[in-house]
Amino acid sequence: MKARILGTGSYLPEHVLTNDDMAKLVETSDEWIRERTGIRERHLTDQGTLHMACEASKRALLNSNVTADELDMIIIATFTPDYLFPNASCQLQAALGAPNVPCMDLSAACSGFIYSINTAAAYIQAGMYKKILVVAAETLSRVVDWEDRSTCILFGDGAGAAVIGADETGILAMDMGSDGVKGPVLYCEAWPITNPIVNKGKAGKLRMNGQEVYKFAVRRLPKTIETVLQESGISVDEVDHFIFHQANRRILQAAAKHLNIPAEKMPMNMDHCGNLSAASIPVLLDEHNQSGKIKRGDKVVLAAFGGGLSWASALIIW
Ligand code: COA
Repeated sequence: MKARILGTGSYLPEHVLTNDDMAKLVETSDEWIRERTGIRERHLTDQGTLHMACEASKRALLNSNVTADELDMIIIATFTPDYLFPNASCQLQAALGAPNVPCMDLSAACSGFIYSINTAAAYIQAGMYKKILVVAAETLSRVVDWEDRSTCILFGDGAGAAVIGADETGILAMDMGSDGVKGPVLYCEAWPITNPIVNKGKAGKLRMNGQEVYKFAVRRLPKTIETVLQESGISVDEVDHFIFHQANRRILQAAAKHLNIPAEKMPMNMDHCGNLSAASIPVLLDEHNQSGKIKRGDKVVLAAFGGGLSWASALIIW
């Protein structure tokens, strides 16, 4: 038994912040941001993570022809939930109506969606569950330092979802890994210790050593892709779509050059939504799927890298 993606959905908030709008907040320019990253604008939410997760999930259920009461489990990948508890997936369960099923949040930063579908696939392959809703939703605007021009230009808010179901074909190979030693190059501290004996100040903001992350990404992305290709015995030429974490156009172009991936097989959407962390891959996957570009039987490689530092990939028959 395999785990297949039955359908997808996504949601981007209405409000758009362009690079020119950004230049009114910090010293930067549209030209600098576009040249270094490929980003033109990003969406910002005024409602939060659960609202976006819910909208993306409803669309994914519809696209999959699955109703909420058929679900056996809900997983949400996020590090920007609205509440510490109940977790975002319990809140989503209440909003969608999927009585009594287990609900868990999974925190693996930008690798979170692939970690989550791989987790869902493991439950399905073990025969425990048949249909699992996997969602990635991030309100990154809540943790970005709006005075730090080297990071605030990169990120946006959004959510993507997929229903994973038991079938004869689907995910053929998965790879996941992490290197906690390099964690300090990309992090966001949680709330401070503030109690009667100590007062450690303000809530954490996202911090990044951009060049170190860049070096890690251009090395690790090709490696994790090669791992799933080798494991499934499929060559780069046989793959129809490479859906990668949309952090930065230059990182993806470097990986594509290394592996000889033609540009038309590697869609990008960071121009209109920036880096959505865990939500980046399911939003792009859904845009590609809804536009009819992915056909039943196509071979799709998903690959991500990010905070942890972490990485993950999957090779899927659609
Ligand atoms: N606008 C204008 N100038 C900026 C700027 C901005 N938004 N951000 C930084 N700069 C300046 C710096 O202050 C520096 O100025 P200086 O030379 O006077 O000191 C200069 O641009 C170069 O900075 P640097 O950090 O070396 O730029 P870079 O070429 O490394 O590009 C990133 C910065 C963030 C775009 C790049 O490092 C990157 O994309 N890294 C990967 C980040 C990533 O993908 N993170 C998420 C992973 S999931």
